[in-house]
Amino acid sequence: VQPIGVFDSGVGGLTVLRALRRTFPGDDFIYLGDTARLPYGTKSPATVTRYSLQCAELLVQRGIRCLVVACNTASASALDELRLAHPSIPVIGVIDPGAEAAVAASRSQHIAVIATEATIAGGAYQMAIRRLRGGARVTAAACSLFVAMAEEGWVDGEIPQAVARRYLDPIFRAAGDMPDTLVLGCTHFPVLAAAIGAVLPPGVRMVDSAATTAAALLKFVTPRPLAAGPGRVTWLATDDAGRFARVGSSFLGEPLLAADIEIVDLTTPLPR
Ligand code: DGL
Repeated sequence: VQPIGVFDSGVGGLTVLRALRRTFPGDDFIYLGDTARLPYGTKSPATVTRYSLQCAELLVQRGIRCLVVACNTASASALDELRLAHPSIPVIGVIDPGAEAAVAASRSQHIAVIATEATIAGGAYQMAIRRLRGGARVTAAACSLFVAMAEEGWVDGEIPQAVARRYLDPIFRAAGDMPDTLVLGCTHFPVLAAAIGAVLPPGVRMVDSAATTAAALLKFVTPRPLAAGPGRVTWLATDDAGRFARVGSSFLGEPLLAADIEIVDLTTPLPR
């Protein structure tokens, strides 16, 4: 059985891979982190789309049977183009699954979304939530500093909580009704969940895309039976295996070895 391909702008997508491996424990995965060009979240849709097409092309050349776009920014900007470029395999993004999780969790249907600048500016979450629930209200905010803090390992305590307060107070302390659900619409934000949760008003639910993305993939792909042995992951990155292993371990929740990470070049066109 061919592997499941997963890419992200870097190590953040490992939060999604973790959930995918729980649902597809017998499957092989190829994970590509475009660490040389991270962050995607501050770049234009055209650039993010170009990078995403290059990531997908490399994975398809390696013989994947489906593609999971684990990066919210890439899902927001490039999903249609990726599907057009690879019509023969299922291509799943994280935005629709995240929107589904939010709509399911919210009672008031007033939903807050935090993500990168590019994801928020493109309006993909806002549209996905309203497609599912026409009357839903969405309050969206870019929280760009969270990405750097998560990579730095500053995931809880005084500074992350102060930054979280600065971003979230305008959403949740404003007069009038406040959202009852917060979508963590960026791969990096689940590792900051404790700091974010600490500054949220009581009763606000946090959701992310990881579990619902795995459920979405199940609609298209039958898991390989675990009886055939546990699946393996092939690790690819575009820069610095050492940093990928170090930072990635905290996102994945298990140790990664630099020696297991293959460095690939996406800027040289691949032979067809
Ligand atoms: N992976 C990106 C996302 O989920 C966050 C990091 C970046 O900006 O590249 O939006």
